[in-house]
Amino acid sequence: MSSKKTLNVGLIGCGFMGRTHSNAYRKVGNFFSLDRQPVLKAICDFNADKAAAFAQQWGYESVETDWKKLIARKDIDLIDICLPNNLHMEVAVAAAKAGKMIICEKPIARDAKEGLKMVKAVEKAGVPNLVSYNYRRIPAVTMAKQLIDSGRLGRIFHYRAKFLQDWTISKDLPQGGDALWRLDVKVAGSGVTGDLLAHCIDTALWLNGGIDSVSAMTETFIKERKHQLTGKVQKVGIDDACAFLARFKNGSLATFESTRYARGHKALYTFEINGEHASIAWDLHDLHRLQFFDHRDEGPLRGWRSIHITDGDHPYMKNWWVPGLAIGYEHSFVHQVADFIQGLTSGQPAGPTFREALETSKVCDAVLASASSGAWVKV
Ligand SMILES: NC(=O)c1ccc[n+]([C@@H]2O[C@H](COP(=O)([O-])OP(=O)(O)OC[C@H]3O[C@@H](n4cnc5c(N)ncnc54)[C@H](O)[C@@H]3O)[C@@H](O)[C@H]2O)c1
Repeated sequence: MSSKKTLNVGLIGCGFMGRTHSNAYRKVGNFFSLDRQPVLKAICDFNADKAAAFAQQWGYESVETDWKKLIARKDIDLIDICLPNNLHMEVAVAAAKAGKMIICEKPIARDAKEGLKMVKAVEKAGVPNLVSYNYRRIPAVTMAKQLIDSGRLGRIFHYRAKFLQDWTISKDLPQGGDALWRLDVKVAGSGVTGDLLAHCIDTALWLNGGIDSVSAMTETFIKERKHQLTGKVQKVGIDDACAFLARFKNGSLATFESTRYARGHKALYTFEINGEHASIAWDLHDLHRLQFFDHRDEGPLRGWRSIHITDGDHPYMKNWWVPGLAIGYEHSFVHQVADFIQGLTSGQPAGPTFREALETSKVCDAVLASASSGAWVKV
């Protein structure tokens, strides 16, 4: 038996993210030395059958179907919100009032107004909080942060990011309800802007600092879709695609693009950063590699290096296997839990906290405002 203090988790939402987070809580103590051990105390989903099957599969001790009951439980330390975006605010505010720590999936909420209420609630309650922008914790991305912070790139001139998918091209795909809530603007808040570009923006703010202003365009290619819950054909309110220009506060220029209509692309998240001395590029489809070009290399040997981020001195990697062996997507969530717990121990909270993640939502709001007005918008 472990003598570690426990961290009793109550997770809400048995979908995609419910699985990635449950996996992380189960594994983290095997690979990281932490002074608290997550315990899968309770799983909650309003779909009782799904919740029961999930509890079986992942080893949760108990099941709830009403998140309010879960939050009221004295034996829960941490509420993990893996719910569609429209529920983040209500659940997080209630969890904060009950004095629970909170990990909430991204985006923090449907918009910055809701997000601000969540920030105020966790800060008033003084509870540890984190928004799950997990791509920060892919070792190659963390390595990019270290290179930039150490000055290897020098002054940054350009930031370029895209996130491309192709799963909503069919006009017969309904909107709303299980799995398809992302197409229903009332639930999601926005389309690719809050769903996919939010990831690109979080990484960008982390790597390159604040964004000053944006100029955006969006398009909804399929204007009407049947709603799964009502059965009626309804107007589609989300942005199917979005591209925007941005000026960062450090003077660098950026382009961001996202769509769910790029045939052939499933989750192509890429970014490239060009600095005075060096450039870096990263691609989610090849996530353990970091491309790096350093102009200060000896002239004839200068060129792009493809660094396999699997060595013991690369971020997080000493906790895994032996040098040269790659890890993947799921591990970013393990790193997130490890950092969250280390933040509890050290008193230096892991980011992005709710307050930090609110900045991403402010940029998303500015992007949507610019797309609707056609003008540049200050963040
Ligand atoms: N970090 C990432 O890379 C990433 C990836 C995917 C999704 N997300 C975010 O995670 C969140 C969840 O997305 P998902 O893909 O896991 O969704 P999902 O549709 O797969 O799962 C959502 C679950 O919530 C349950 N649910 C819905 N309403 C409920 C209620 N009132 N009470 C209890 N349970 C309820 C559903 O039954 C479902 O099991 C979203 O905010 C999304 O933006 C983040």
